[in-house]
Amino acid sequence: MAEAYEPENILVTGGAGFIGSNFAHWVVENQPGVHVTVLDALTYAGNRENLAGIPQDRMDFVHGDICDAPLLDEIFPKVDAVVHFAAESHNDNSIADPAPFVRTNVEGTYCLLEAARKHGVRFHHVSTDEVYGDLALDDPARFTEETPYRPSSPYSSTKASSDMLVRAWHRTYGVRATISNCSNNYGPYQHIEKFIPRQITNVICGIRPKLYGDGLNVRDWIHTEDHSSAVWAILTHGRVGETYLIGADGERSNIDVLHAILEGMGKAADDFDWVRDRPGHDRRYAIDPTKLRRELGWQPKHTDFAEGLAQTIAWYRENEAWWRSVKEAVEAKYAAQGQ
Ligand code: NAD
Ligand code: DAU
Repeated sequence: MAEAYEPENILVTGGAGFIGSNFAHWVVENQPGVHVTVLDALTYAGNRENLAGIPQDRMDFVHGDICDAPLLDEIFPKVDAVVHFAAESHNDNSIADPAPFVRTNVEGTYCLLEAARKHGVRFHHVSTDEVYGDLALDDPARFTEETPYRPSSPYSSTKASSDMLVRAWHRTYGVRATISNCSNNYGPYQHIEKFIPRQITNVICGIRPKLYGDGLNVRDWIHTEDHSSAVWAILTHGRVGETYLIGADGERSNIDVLHAILEGMGKAADDFDWVRDRPGHDRRYAIDPTKLRRELGWQPKHTDFAEGLAQTIAWYRENEAWWRSVKEAVEAKYAAQGQ
């Protein structure tokens, strides 16, 4: 474990999105001496409401774009570290229109790295396990920090590109950077375009859930609160220049997850529709989190998936006002794609 690094002012990019807002809440609740500045463009995926309840003296909100270099020059002198979540994050959208993915995920990360270099700011880059491509269902292997990059989708290839930029800016310019590649998150504030909240809100709305392909694709689920604590452990105790994989041993097939949602919401196991598969659909993701656990002593808190899922279902039931206004448009977009 590296000597503890103790930032006092952190910039959280994408802090009005799903994982970024959960991280902002986590820092405010668990790190009393730390001030958070959120920078978010409030795209379709960002919602200022996600940050409700955070006291004004603990957080500033800047509505802006990570590609705006003059804006970054104003913000960076006021922070010690940036935790970079901002991205276009949905695979299906990247297949329909990759352009915003290249701009935000690649150019945006480049702009932030240049600002970090210029202002001497520490950089933590939040990335995905998808950069490693996929594994066969019967492969005993899991992804490790040494697995070669083999991204499949426009989304994952832009995230892989951004990881490469971070590595180069560390090696060439000495930017003090760490990278984490995490598996699939679930929990509150996740946009309803994503698998778990889409199916929960479908059931609430009386729409049959939709399963892609043969439903046997495997994702490695982690509660977003555990992602937050892992990112904090890496930022404060990780070794500069290193990559850490984040996962919580949560491999499950999509059909098993859907059955758990249906059961948890009082529906029959066959009360869903099979729909067109995602082009290039990755088969299986699986994270070996040994380095993170051994080196930093990190442990997930949410080890009972059924319980985490029940809490997530309850959150979407209790916060219908948060998602209801976009449901029709999200489903219309999927329907146009045959999904
Ligand atoms: P999200 O789509 O819910 O949120 C993204 C946020 O970034 C939004 O608030 C959006 O407004 C903001 N944003 C987009 N473009 C921007 C720009 N140009 N400038 C400033 N802000 C911009 O995404 P998420 O699921 O919370 O993912 C956050 C990060 O975590 C991403 O980098 C993603 O690649 C990574 N990640 C996600 C998962 C997952 O399961 N969701 C898993 C591993 C890694
Ligand atoms: O692995 C980490 C990645 O997890 C992150 O980098 C991405 O930002 C995040 O979106 C997520 O990517 P996935 O493509 O795995 O997540 P998604 O929720 O879109 O889909 C999960 C699985 O469910 C996937 O195999 C596709 C399937 N699916 C998805 C939807 C929306 C369905 O079967 N039906 C659906 O309606």
